[in-house]
Amino acid sequence: MTRGIRSYVLRQGRTTPAQRRALDELLPALGLAYRPEILQPRAVFGREAPLVLEIGSGMGETTAQIAAEQPGTDFIAVEVHGPGVGSLLKRIAEQRLANLRLIRHDAAEVLEHMIADGALAGLHLFFPDPWPKKRHHKRRLVQPAFAALAARKLAPGGYLHAATDWPEYAEQMARVFDAEPLLARAVQPGARPLTKFEQRGLKLGHEVRDLVYRRR
Ligand SMILES: C[S@@+](CC[C@H](N)C(=O)[O-])C[C@H]1O[C@@H](n2cnc3c(N)ncnc32)[C@H](O)[C@@H]1O
Repeated sequence: MTRGIRSYVLRQGRTTPAQRRALDELLPALGLAYRPEILQPRAVFGREAPLVLEIGSGMGETTAQIAAEQPGTDFIAVEVHGPGVGSLLKRIAEQRLANLRLIRHDAAEVLEHMIADGALAGLHLFFPDPWPKKRHHKRRLVQPAFAALAARKLAPGGYLHAATDWPEYAEQMARVFDAEPLLARAVQPGARPLTKFEQRGLKLGHEVRDLVYRRR
């Protein structure tokens, strides 16, 4: 999948001194550099364990919480936003999370070039940017080519868990994932902790929708 259009626009935002320090001091140790070559999870985590990738971990509270709750699973978070990356690095260090590492790069490229086909036990996509304006819809991550890529990277039986508080994007996600031959809707909705972005949506009265699929 070659994507000319990215699903994010890098706004610097405010990086706190603590986030800056985390980026400078912790990224080399707790981050994984983007390289267009297949990553060996065993070399990263020092063990064989189910691997889950999260796209757009934001400030990382939920990401760290899930990793802490599931010590038997290894997690890779992918995020481009500097303050969010700094914030999650701090959490990984403070909570000594040996099963969570982070890549600061475009997740579509990470998936395509660093993850082996069939390598993922799960893929998390919690509240991807909804790009509500029609002229921006092309920036939405969930498109047919993305669904095919995601399905290919999942192991048979592996899950894809997406959530959004934007009803019309939820419909697009359902349409796109339903149309992907390698994905089947899961009967049980997946459980997950509340995310930061979700809390904002809920305060605004948005309805949240979770979509869970299994790789056939
Ligand atoms: C609306 S926020 C949601 C963050 C978090 N999942 C939550 O629920 O609080 C979406 C995040 O996805 C990140 N993002 C968007 N496109 C991305 C991409 N292609 N690769 C990595 N991160 C991306 C953005 O930087 C942003 O932090």
